[in-house]
Amino acid sequence: MIHTRRFILASALIGAVAASFPALAAKPMVMGFSQVGAESEWRTANTTSIKEAAKKDGVVLKFADAQQRQENQVKAIRSFIAQHVDVIAFSPVVESGWETVLREAKNAKIPVILTDRAVNVSDPSLYATFIGSDFVEEGRRAGRWLVERAAKMPNKVINIVELQGTVGSAPALDRKKGFAEAIAGNPKLKVIRSQTGDFTRAKGKEVMEAFLKAEGKNINVLYAHNDDMAIGAIQAIEEAGLKPGKDILVISIDGVKGAFQAMMAGKLNVTVECSPLLGPQLMQVARDVVAGKAVPKRITTVESVFPAEVAAKEFPSRKY
Ligand code: AHR
Repeated sequence: MIHTRRFILASALIGAVAASFPALAAKPMVMGFSQVGAESEWRTANTTSIKEAAKKDGVVLKFADAQQRQENQVKAIRSFIAQHVDVIAFSPVVESGWETVLREAKNAKIPVILTDRAVNVSDPSLYATFIGSDFVEEGRRAGRWLVERAAKMPNKVINIVELQGTVGSAPALDRKKGFAEAIAGNPKLKVIRSQTGDFTRAKGKEVMEAFLKAEGKNINVLYAHNDDMAIGAIQAIEEAGLKPGKDILVISIDGVKGAFQAMMAGKLNVTVECSPLLGPQLMQVARDVVAGKAVPKRITTVESVFPAEVAAKEFPSRKY
């Protein structure tokens, strides 16, 4: 009897406190996030942005690093489903092969948000929204910069080598496509070699060494799908006794601080911005999705292009 009375009193007290302070009563949102890995300066900034935004927003974040492997991401997503998280977000390593696991999330009624990279699925209802850059446009921006620059070059032919991102990933496929599209109208511009550098500095350097060995001074331009590979390649160019930024023009994508430093040192000619600061937007959209509100299917990040001429002015305000 005494126990029952105490229980009733305690419940009434908790109810009263919760009614006066709704924030105390609300259960924090739980998000499972599967990250690609830690392959680049960009990725590190992206991870920091997501972790900081979750903390600021009071979101319980279950974070899993896939180390650039799709099978690790599938495992992580399955584990989030088993833990009944409120929402799953992930940046897919590659575009294809997601139907099964995304259907499992849908059957468990857990919404999925794509960040940074897209998936290739026949049923778009398998994810709620996709927040990230327009990678094709980034490739076009890199190509347009070169077309303008080429107009001032006396060369009859301009030979380009391309360092692609991770095979099968959305940014590698799209940046290649956008760049090819933008230079297509100029017969002087020729891509003579194109190979993956897996978005890392080490691989970028290694592949550039091979390009230099095969083509030597024939190379006029390097187009790298990210800054890290460009920075690795710059080292290879210097070790080969050539001047990056002069003997070989260097174009890359991301806009990380390392790229600005390379531009200020005269070794990189332009970086096309790709913002990793997706955390705050992700938390906001996740809240809306979990609350059942309608959200746009595609949320595109606003970005610009930074040629070497503006690097010193822009550097102090760079956030990543
Ligand atoms: O998906 C975005 C790309 O992935 C960035 O350009 C690259 O640096 C990263 O590894």
